[in-house]
Amino acid sequence: MDRLAITGGQRLEGRVTAAGAKNAALPILAATLLGEGECAISNLPQVRDVATMTTLISLLGVSVKRDGSRVVIDATSVQSFDAPYDLVKTMRASVLVLGPLLARFGEAVVSLPGGCAIGPRPVNLHLDGLRKLGATVSVDHGYIRAQATRLRGQRIDLEFPTVTGTENLLMAASLAHGTTVINNAAMEPEIIDLAAFLSKRGAKIEGAGSGRLVVEGVSALHGAEHEVMPDRIETGTYLVAGAMTGGRVEVERCVPAHLAVVLAKLRECGADVSETAGSITITAPRRLQAVDVHTSPYPGFPTDLQAQMMALLCLTEGTGVMTETVFEGRFLHVSELQRMGAAITVDGHRAVVKGLDHLTGAPVMASDLRASAGLLLAALAAEGDTQISRIYHLDRGYERIEDKLQALGAVVRRETGPS
Ligand code: UD1
Repeated sequence: MDRLAITGGQRLEGRVTAAGAKNAALPILAATLLGEGECAISNLPQVRDVATMTTLISLLGVSVKRDGSRVVIDATSVQSFDAPYDLVKTMRASVLVLGPLLARFGEAVVSLPGGCAIGPRPVNLHLDGLRKLGATVSVDHGYIRAQATRLRGQRIDLEFPTVTGTENLLMAASLAHGTTVINNAAMEPEIIDLAAFLSKRGAKIEGAGSGRLVVEGVSALHGAEHEVMPDRIETGTYLVAGAMTGGRVEVERCVPAHLAVVLAKLRECGADVSETAGSITITAPRRLQAVDVHTSPYPGFPTDLQAQMMALLCLTEGTGVMTETVFEGRFLHVSELQRMGAAITVDGHRAVVKGLDHLTGAPVMASDLRASAGLLLAALAAEGDTQISRIYHLDRGYERIEDKLQALGAVVRRETGPS
């Protein structure tokens, strides 16, 4: 199992390019299942989750030709409607094939994504929405089985603006008979990117990026080309890394508007943040000020940057409160940060972080994708050496992370084999 060895204390300085967004790439790849014809998708990040999704699509019998960050998928012929446990257990977002398979073929069998490190993460809202569209859905022996002759447009009021749930329903509604309205839809930029791709394929969607999506179903979709949007979470991770090392980091090929709340928080901490149309530059003093942060669905502060921001708070002047409102139990990184000397106390979904003058390197273990990123940032700013084990979590969502960090002056290397 790979691990990262980091010698902390370097000031990060330089330029890094944002990769394509993992969380946009995954639903877009699933959406290639919705119709015949070639779909050429570019700017795919080279990360494990994207490889898992392309493997899943190939397993369904679809032609997938991948060349670096571009893939050409032709789902004219699909041989199986079955997403097996072995793949789904490695990536919850596999559930995104449910809506497309059901809408196009009237049938889908998808393993239930089990519990995961960051809380129970159920899919009940996906299933309730599909039932609303007329599907018969059962869950037995660990599998979701969905059937429908043709889905029918309906009004769906989501109890919570679930991101992949909105995506599954948006894809399914694109091929339903009649008009679907999804209220309290997720407003994440990745939904807009998916809707843009679906529209290029011939879908009729209004309201993407707002809380109300209106989808007029069409009978078939055709092939299209699409470039995946830049990854706002990767961008935010490098900005926080620059900020907490008192550095100067420019992230190129990103969309500053997607990070408005994050940039406002970093400014509140005392960092200087400047933006151009496609880049963000952060310059930070040696010590930042503590702030309170409250995660919430977009456009709020993203839960996927919570662990990284908590790492930053550990080294600020003052005490900051991190409130996690999106996922229960997303504080697994806290005990590892404490091993590095952090002063954090958790009370339910709130973590009180007392800023310290320094953290100290230590052996730590990654528990999920973004928690790993938080530990890595803490290690970059800490005094001494840190080894992070189980970094396969990090490889799920960050492209060539050690190369990009090395280019910014970090001392980080990947080690393989037994420790
Ligand atoms: C997506 C992102 C993930 C991000 C999260 C929140 C992808 C592939 N993943 O995950 O990186 O952290 O959004 O921004 O895009 N919930 C239910 N029932 C459901 C669905 C969700 O109760 O049917 C609850 C979850 O338990 C959680 C909350 O809703 O507490 C948010 O989950 P959701 O928005 O669905 O997250 P994902 O789409 O899984």
